[in-house]
Amino acid sequence: MIYLGADHAGFDLKKIIKNYLDSIGVANKDLGNTKLDPDDDYNDFAKKVAQKVAREKGARGILICGTGNGVCIVANKIRGIQAAIAHNEFTARMAKRHGDTNILCLGGRVVKPTKAKKLVKIWLEEKLSPDPKYLRRIKKIFALEKNL
Ligand code: RB5
Repeated sequence: MIYLGADHAGFDLKKIIKNYLDSIGVANKDLGNTKLDPDDDYNDFAKKVAQKVAREKGARGILICGTGNGVCIVANKIRGIQAAIAHNEFTARMAKRHGDTNILCLGGRVVKPTKAKKLVKIWLEEKLSPDPKYLRRIKKIFALEKNL
């Protein structure tokens, strides 16, 4: 399952990404905002999506705010979340291949819809690199959650 979340600055792009996921048959759920509210806070949707992803085995998330920064900062506060921003094909690919992220963050004011769909496709299809050094680094990140 792919959980989606966005504030006002990512609202339109979230709809586009949802339609795209539907069109390619990828199960997804929109966790809001469900209406365009210019005064909403990215924090609330990032928290919702990140908690779902952290609790549900195999789940992933896509979060969108104006830059991708706000939602990414919030999501990475939740234990079990590895979130990264992608603004181009390379960063989308590496977010998975080297970072094994379970949440992709996009900037609705940064990437155009066609590019954003491409980034989502790349991130969904990419796998963690088999080179053990990447897993070693990811394990070091998760060790920080246990204060080791
Ligand atoms: C909201 O205007 C904007 O600050 C927010 O969407 C995001 O870009 C923050 O990182």
